[in-house]
Amino acid sequence: MKERIDRLAQNHILPREELLDLIQNISEADKAYLFEKSLEAKETFYDKSVFMRGLIEISSYCAQNCTYCGIRRDNENAERYRLSVDEILGCCDEGYRLGYRTFVLQGGEDPYYTDERLLELIHAVKGKYDDIAITLSLGERSYDSYKVLKAAGADRYLLRHETASRALYESLHPDMSFDNRRQCLKDLKTLGFQVGAGFMVGLPGQTADDLVEDLMFLKELEPHMVGIGPFIPHSETPIGHNPGGTVDQTLLMISLVRLILPMTLLPSTTALGTIDEKGREKALKVGANVIMPNLSPTDVRAKYALYENKICTGDEAAHCRACIEGRINSVGFYVDMSKGDHYEWR
Ligand code: 5AD
Ligand code: FES
Repeated sequence: MKERIDRLAQNHILPREELLDLIQNISEADKAYLFEKSLEAKETFYDKSVFMRGLIEISSYCAQNCTYCGIRRDNENAERYRLSVDEILGCCDEGYRLGYRTFVLQGGEDPYYTDERLLELIHAVKGKYDDIAITLSLGERSYDSYKVLKAAGADRYLLRHETASRALYESLHPDMSFDNRRQCLKDLKTLGFQVGAGFMVGLPGQTADDLVEDLMFLKELEPHMVGIGPFIPHSETPIGHNPGGTVDQTLLMISLVRLILPMTLLPSTTALGTIDEKGREKALKVGANVIMPNLSPTDVRAKYALYENKICTGDEAAHCRACIEGRINSVGFYVDMSKGDHYEWR
């Protein structure tokens, strides 16, 4: 297995069968070796740094109905809110003071956000600070809409592919199109965004084959960022009675993606920090290099509940900023507050 891991670290790809066998049969000793290699790959490009992004959850309204997600449109118990432009600018001000130079504006697929309204929002944020990056994470939109957002000054866009297996995707999103989601990712790349894809680990019915499919898809798409987190059941969703993904599985996938796309930006996700108190530190140790602390106003945090028991819902932005830095330092890394572009964009 060590020879195979070396080959993966060198060539950044393996034949499908070898990836499948690795995911299914890797021993604890070989996993330790794999993690060593994936951390080495991260440090080749990003040294000991960890990029910080300020996450602002701008709306919990969502027109989609993903069966895993707590803010799906059919969840009548989900509390809905939408931040005003002034509230969002307030979060940015606080974030800017704390040193953040990337703001991630994330929300459900909220029809309130027409191109005109987003344009106004992007202009308001970009007009206020001249040295920041804006990342949008607002779901599927048309090519023309993405084009307007890019022209308005948005720099990056996060749209997880969720799973690269068509059958699994369709079972989790009965009224969505697998092809359209992929098309969106391609459109975003074509338009010149730095693009983030990503998937959940431990979804009900997800097999090792499906995870290999995720790896092959990412290799082909070559996104600038890949968000990987465990599925965490939410009791008010159709699939909320299933077990969630594990830390082990998630770390394995993070390390494999690091070796397949060595320069990619890999967040250590809040979902991983939710299922394991030391989850985010563990991800950093296997090659993750981005953390997105929450800048949303504390009174709305709990309402943006994609899954249950989400961490940090009661914590002020300044508290999270300090907490995260402590965690990053505790495992031998340091905080990088710069815009934090992908290696090839510098
Ligand atoms: N568990 C884990 N992750 C989830 N997401 C949505 N619902 C859940 C859940 N129940 C993830 C999706 C989405 C991202 C913003 O959050 O991958 O793209
Ligand atoms: Fe929010 Fe630790 S990151 S409290």
